[in-house]
Amino acid sequence: MARILTGIQSSGASGEVHLGNILGAIQPGIELSKKKENEAYFFIADLHSLTSVKDAKVREMNVRAVAAAWLAFGFDTEKNVFYRQSDVPEVCELTWYLNCFTPYPMLANAHSFKDKTENLADVNAGLFDYPVLMACDILMYDANYVPVGKDQKQHLEMTRDIASSFNHKYGETFVIPEPLIDERVMVVPGTDGRKMSKSYNNYINIFLADKQLRKSIMRIETDSTPMEDPKDPDSCNVFALYNLLGSEGQIEEMRNNYLGGNYGYGHAKQALFELIVEKYKDQRSSYNDFIDNPDQIDQLLLMGAEKARETARPILNKVRQKLGFRV
Ligand code: TRP
Repeated sequence: MARILTGIQSSGASGEVHLGNILGAIQPGIELSKKKENEAYFFIADLHSLTSVKDAKVREMNVRAVAAAWLAFGFDTEKNVFYRQSDVPEVCELTWYLNCFTPYPMLANAHSFKDKTENLADVNAGLFDYPVLMACDILMYDANYVPVGKDQKQHLEMTRDIASSFNHKYGETFVIPEPLIDERVMVVPGTDGRKMSKSYNNYINIFLADKQLRKSIMRIETDSTPMEDPKDPDSCNVFALYNLLGSEGQIEEMRNNYLGGNYGYGHAKQALFELIVEKYKDQRSSYNDFIDNPDQIDQLLLMGAEKARETARPILNKVRQKLGFRV
């Protein structure tokens, strides 16, 4: 049995999950979790969000939106372990212990910190220490594999270094985790053609009500080829998204429409809107049921936290004992 663990960011400004998150993280994560030989520990990294998000309501909304999206796409919380990071406060204790084994230069070299050194007054100690909390997220649960994006590779290397050096000093304690970095990661284009991202504000949130969803699709940037003229599907942002979501037949049909002329970008956008509404009918409705029943979300996450704590406690005790703290 392999334990797959990953943290899900929840630091967006408005509690929104977009198509890039769904195609790039949620669906591949759920696929991994379904394999018989895997057990997935997936958690919402709300403690990490405190390095930037200070508003309690915003945090709460973000956590629920992220949880509702994973649940709506069918993440199985019975087979797996789904929890809020902050519901397992043991991770903060481990973070203190491992802080005291983390060399300052290692953290000073982290890209996540180095990117911000121009304005050091804005860097809080939590942000500086972000990689150690992340290492503890992983080491706390004997995780074997950690699926992450390329940008997290360095954090995984630090985790392995911290774990190995502790094991070297105190004997086998932590499992050394392997990163699972999918080099083929799907790049989902946003409404302006750049990678879909919260920070570019070019994202499509499929859980919006029809009217707003349609509006966000109509916002996709296109060139000014007149309606009557043939169009190049391969340089069009609308087609690029349709191409990721449609069936072979649907894609072929739209390609022919583009090449044939008398087919405007407005038609293509309308077709994309209809495709999204149809394709994600069940998930959209399930998402809204969860958002309307936050207690149900909280209950599922708490059940996950109970399971997570059972795994965490003996590992934390092992560390306490090795360091001369009472167990
Ligand atoms: N830092 C990760 C990100 O930005 C989120 C994260 C927090 C994480 N803790 C983790 C990922 C532990 C994997 C394992 O995406």
